[in-house]
Amino acid sequence: MDMPQPTLIDLKPDLASVEDAVLQGLAAQPKALPAWLFYDAEGSRLFEAICEQPEYYPTRTELAILREHGPDIAATLGEGCTLVELGSGSERKAKVLLRLLRAPDGYIGIDVSAAQLRSATAALARAFPGLPVAGICADFGDDGALPLAELAGDGPLVGFFPGSTIGNMDPGAATGFLAGWAERLAPGGMLVGVDLVKDKAVLDAAYNDAAGVTATFNRNMLVHVARRLDTDLDPDAFAHHAFFDPAASRVEMHLVARRAHTVRVGGHRFQFRAGESIHTESSHKYTVEGFQALARQAGFQPQRVWTDPRRWFSVHYLAAPAGA
Ligand code: TRP
Repeated sequence: MDMPQPTLIDLKPDLASVEDAVLQGLAAQPKALPAWLFYDAEGSRLFEAICEQPEYYPTRTELAILREHGPDIAATLGEGCTLVELGSGSERKAKVLLRLLRAPDGYIGIDVSAAQLRSATAALARAFPGLPVAGICADFGDDGALPLAELAGDGPLVGFFPGSTIGNMDPGAATGFLAGWAERLAPGGMLVGVDLVKDKAVLDAAYNDAAGVTATFNRNMLVHVARRLDTDLDPDAFAHHAFFDPAASRVEMHLVARRAHTVRVGGHRFQFRAGESIHTESSHKYTVEGFQALARQAGFQPQRVWTDPRRWFSVHYLAAPAGA
């Protein structure tokens, strides 16, 4: 039997230039590089490996919540919704959710990586014969128009944003981002995975796994940059440093210069003091109430929340009222 092919729409997201990002980030004070530089092929592989580490609880806890509360989640989302996954990456979590849902109308994945999108939508089309599957190659963080209505059925759109990716934005940016999606998804809603504030030791361990996979992932950003640019940047001159800052309620990821040195990028030179860091990512941790307040500010109505017994992670259903 012929498999129905997923519909793919390429909006050609303008991928920022690696060189511009690096020149700007290393000139900034304090130095910082954007998290999208993590994700070359090796970075994507390493991230999947992080999710398997015993200390990295978010992935397995979120999946356990989806499984444990599956029937309740399915009833909340209702029949005939079109699932819209933001930053679909691997198809693993969508598979779990689609299996739970009652007669979903379709699936639309959005991802900047055309290759990821092709393989994930093909896998979903195989796993769910009869389900209309589509992919949009775009940056889900951009505020441009997306052809969601064209691709969706008659039922409501329900966003799916797992993995606490929302925590990788600053709270202000997260609010603006959710406000844009509240408009796009109305009168549907959104299912969002959000990591919760907890004991510092648990958080520090999650971002400092004993096998060193997170350290390799963090430093791989420099390996990636060094490969892409004309530079003498030496990844081994930097050490992984990640810690939970309770005052800011976030884990910060840094690459710390092991010694004073100068890095050349093209015709530019950047000085590093010994111990000077490049900030590579933050992962904000919320309380349930804190995240609900943020979602309300964005125009969503928090309707349900599911957590694991230890309350380490949360999955929220946010309703997007029409005309709000
Ligand atoms: N969304 C993930 C998180 O904040 C991303 C992540 C996990 C990550 N481990 C990391 C990002 C290590 C950078 C470095 O938990």
